[in-house]
Amino acid sequence: MQETQMISFQEHGDSRGNLIALEGEKEIPFHIQRIFYIYGMDKTAVRGQHANRKSNFVMICLKGTAKIKVDDGRKSQTFVLEKPDQGLFIPKETWKEMSDFSADSVLLVLSDETYDAGEYIRDYQEFVKEVTDL
Ligand code: TYD
Repeated sequence: MQETQMISFQEHGDSRGNLIALEGEKEIPFHIQRIFYIYGMDKTAVRGQHANRKSNFVMICLKGTAKIKVDDGRKSQTFVLEKPDQGLFIPKETWKEMSDFSADSVLLVLSDETYDAGEYIRDYQEFVKEVTDL
């Protein structure tokens, strides 16, 4: 998978409620090395505002809603995550901004890389220069 795109997950629902199972290399298109989740955001909060040189991600809004703006250096797209049975695959070298969180939102993020602060590009102009020079 190379492009940012939505992924639908199968719900295993019955009278007891719902369950979604995610495995690396199956529903998640990479080997999962890291998970983190963000919550308790103010509705004015904007997170991300960076790109990663190595990490691919899948973001899932487990509860509430969140807006995810992605930019590959050429075009920008905005996605709304509002159901736990949908994920957003975001490839490496993509500028990301997460915003418009509902008060109850819990955003789960899966990645194929462990945390390395050195792979983050935090300056937008530097990001555009890096991706357009490829
Ligand atoms: P930050 O990158 O600012 O979060 P976001 O992408 O949501 O804007 O990270 C916030 C803090 O958490 C920062 O001190 C780095 C730390 N952190 C880790 O230690 N490990 C991780 O996997 C991540 C994503 C962040």
